[in-house]
Amino acid sequence: MNRLYTIELATKLADRVYEYWIRAPQVAQHARAGQFLIVRLHEAGERIPLTISAVRGDTVRVIFMTVGKTTEELATLGAGDSISDVVGPLGKPSEIENYGTCCVIGGGVGIASTPLIAKELKDAGNHVIGIIGARSADLLILEDEMKEICDELYITTDDGSKGVHGFAADVLKKLLEERKIDRVWIIGPAIMMKVTSGATVPYGVKTYVSLNPIMVDGTGMCGSCRVTVGGETKFACVDGPEFDAHQVDFNEMMQRQRIYTTQEKESLERFAE
Ligand code: FES
Repeated sequence: MNRLYTIELATKLADRVYEYWIRAPQVAQHARAGQFLIVRLHEAGERIPLTISAVRGDTVRVIFMTVGKTTEELATLGAGDSISDVVGPLGKPSEIENYGTCCVIGGGVGIASTPLIAKELKDAGNHVIGIIGARSADLLILEDEMKEICDELYITTDDGSKGVHGFAADVLKKLLEERKIDRVWIIGPAIMMKVTSGATVPYGVKTYVSLNPIMVDGTGMCGSCRVTVGGETKFACVDGPEFDAHQVDFNEMMQRQRIYTTQEKESLERFAE
């Protein structure tokens, strides 16, 4: 087997959440905030999209949660192991400019995407407010890193075990009441992005979400990642993954995400046997 991409560092960040630094010089050289890569563990493997969370030299960081067969298999690898394919960077980069005050919000494993976006916004001269949220304190990731990048950082947990007891949307609503926010980025589970982006509608604040539909080729050929944005069909892999949150048909996307639930469960059970 021709394995080319070495995992340089593998760390378990939280229950079912892993951080891998993968040597992929071509990807690292061109990667920008908001982009992703597609990995295939071996020749017979499924292709899965993973957000580029950070870049250091020739290595890129991905952070993933084990949710199915491929991510479970990925989690069995460690430093020194290799992956057969890493394709990227894919997707359009985040629209980074000097807007003024920007809020970057991550929920759960979606926090993985926030440091690169926050850093590019900061470098462009913005005042950057971070909000990171998780179900509980032990599932919160990248707190120190975000604290370092952002001008202000708010933490929320659903169970109140750390920071604000509640959701990122609660903190965002309060901030919007108190001051002018110019742009908002939200990355997390679909339902969280739907609810949180609803907070900016009354204020007319442009809000981006990073969509994570099922992807196969990642190059606009297969159509599996299609989403409806502003009444038009878009492919998240080439037209996104970031879109104007207020235009996204979240209900349709969530419905499509569930299409293969039965097959994914069967595949995971076979892998675990
Ligand atoms: Fe195939 Fe986007 S993943 S078109």
